[in-house]
Amino acid sequence: MNKFDRSRFGLFSTLWFFAKRMGAFTSGFDLAEYYRREKFATLRRESLSNVFFKSRIGVVLKTSFKIGNLVVSPPVLSAPMAGYTNYAHREMLRRLGGVGLISTEMASARAFVCMGRRDGEEPARLWGVREEPRPLLVQIWDNCPETLEELGGKLAHEFRVSVVDLNFGCPAPAIAKRSASGSFLLRYPEKVGEIVERVARACAPVPVTAKIRLGITRDTINARDVAEAVEGAGGAALTVHGRTARQMYSGVADWDEIAKVADVLKSIPLIGNGDIKTAREAIERLENYPVAGIMIGRAGIDRPWIFREIAQLLRGEKVAPEPSPRQQRDLLLSHYDLVVERFGVELGVKQMRKVACHYSKGLPGARTFRDHIGRVKTGEEFLRVVAEEYCVDGPEDERLSEPNS
Ligand SMILES: Cc1cc2nc3c(=O)[nH]c(=O)nc-3n(C[C@H](O)[C@H](O)[C@H](O)COP(=O)(O)O)c2cc1C
Repeated sequence: MNKFDRSRFGLFSTLWFFAKRMGAFTSGFDLAEYYRREKFATLRRESLSNVFFKSRIGVVLKTSFKIGNLVVSPPVLSAPMAGYTNYAHREMLRRLGGVGLISTEMASARAFVCMGRRDGEEPARLWGVREEPRPLLVQIWDNCPETLEELGGKLAHEFRVSVVDLNFGCPAPAIAKRSASGSFLLRYPEKVGEIVERVARACAPVPVTAKIRLGITRDTINARDVAEAVEGAGGAALTVHGRTARQMYSGVADWDEIAKVADVLKSIPLIGNGDIKTAREAIERLENYPVAGIMIGRAGIDRPWIFREIAQLLRGEKVAPEPSPRQQRDLLLSHYDLVVERFGVELGVKQMRKVACHYSKGLPGARTFRDHIGRVKTGEEFLRVVAEEYCVDGPEDERLSEPNS
């Protein structure tokens, strides 16, 4: 071995030694390996309120940010999703861990105010909100500043929620067309500003945030105007879903358009949302886009443990194996118990049919299971189909088809 070979050998052994120490040759997903493969990405812009740490190979990650005085750590929110993110779902998220801020489904301010005035009742959409653990973000919708102000103030001061979020993004015809609310209001940034200002005043010091889409159509993208209106009116954070209202859920979320919104925000955090399906994608979005945090919707319904996986990656840990089918089935049954306790068996089964379909996604035999669970009517039927058909085709510890490797 000549001198040159010896120095090459020395360099190679040193690299091998450090790579091994960083776990590059162990099985499972490793942050160091991931970053080496994905190259060292540069953060385009760092939000003022972000807290950073250096991973062991020098990549800077976002680990928390603030909404008003509330620290969101990890910087990952579960999205509001009507019909899904009720108390039972939120409770499952808390048990699994990893969500920096949990959101309710959107609640109609008008329905709440009318019900309250009539008989002191609270809408089912606010199930659990008074008592459940904090932090908690409650989303409300309407187009009337007074009504939103009334409910916002109540949620902030009587319910003592952590954040009141205003929905300016919902494209569903019942909200956007028939009620001239949600994404309909994106056409009118001044109106958005007026609403944010009044609700923020009524809720102070509880922060008020807004969730928007890019605009109504691709030709009329105006998220930056709306963002300026929200910040100027005292909004404490802005979430942007990277689709237009016209798109509904078709196509893909445009994160470059989301990124453009960061240019106009002076001091409040931007939260990016849309199409994050895996923990790796979540890290990639946090790393490569000028967002302080990310929000995850549908993937958190299919795989509520995704938040735990993201938190593990952010801490520089290996991702733990996802729950086995048996554990997933137990989660589904706990979810069922909570829903039935609140709504009774008949309504509970109705709600849980779709939830069970989401839990089973990707498991062996899921299609048959979905077919059968979608038709059950009674609690006994529900429990029997879950017991007999939830992942019966696979070995007990078989993982979902989309592991983190
Ligand atoms: C069934 C369903 C219900 C939703 N309900 C709400 C809602 O109540 N409020 C809201 O702001 N967005 C709602 N959204 C939009 C989500 O919060 C999120 O912006 C969207 O799903 C994109 O994120 P994702 O790709 O991570 O799912 C809903 C979406 C779906 C599919």
